[in-house]
Amino acid sequence: SRSPVIAIDGPSGSGKSSTSRGVAARLGLRYLDTGAMYRAMTWWLLRQGVDVHDAAAVAARVDGPEILSGTDPLGPTIMVDGIDVGLAIRSDEVNAAVSPVSAVPEVRARLVELQREAIGDGGIVVEGRDIGSVVAPDADVKVYLTADAAARAERRAAEAGARDVEATRDSLLARDRIDSSRAASPLVMAEGAVHIDGTAYTLDEVIDLVVSLVEARE
Ligand code: C5P
Repeated sequence: SRSPVIAIDGPSGSGKSSTSRGVAARLGLRYLDTGAMYRAMTWWLLRQGVDVHDAAAVAARVDGPEILSGTDPLGPTIMVDGIDVGLAIRSDEVNAAVSPVSAVPEVRARLVELQREAIGDGGIVVEGRDIGSVVAPDADVKVYLTADAAARAERRAAEAGARDVEATRDSLLARDRIDSSRAASPLVMAEGAVHIDGTAYTLDEVIDLVVSLVEARE
């Protein structure tokens, strides 16, 4: 059988990254973090002084940055014009600007093209918001991973070393609202996706569950 494509979508902080990386490492697959690509584009636009709330200005610049994703699940990387932006794309400034940037159709068109190139012939776990619905609708396994808001905020705050869980929760709920209500490829549960609510499970249990879905297909 051909190399599998595994799509993992869901809202911010649902555990998509840890789950996707764990599944890829266990199965010897590559890993693509599409959120990092939207963040990289946003980081570059901010640095260029583009007003991220001006959709026309954003659309006019989408071909500017060269964005390169390293797909090793044990050490994924993201480069913009040769600069490693792995840390910079997690800043509060990028958090606040990434959802409006991601709502611009020209941004999505450019990044979806790069994502499909990276997917190639498969052998990859891809995480995002629209992977099962738009980027790879024929993925072999599609997972829609959620967790309740308190659990998601705690996870994100812990990752970021942030002391203010309330502020973290407000920021991720604000992003979810924009991501779910935008016209272009909103966050939805894709046709054929399996919904996993990870709230009550450990990371290893969720990884086991996804791995068993992949193995059941073979
Ligand atoms: O997954 P992460 O939280 O890093 O994604 C950051 C933002 O990138 C999301 O809030 C969303 O606006 C955007 N995104 C998207 N489509 C994807 C992945 C991320 O619009 N496939």
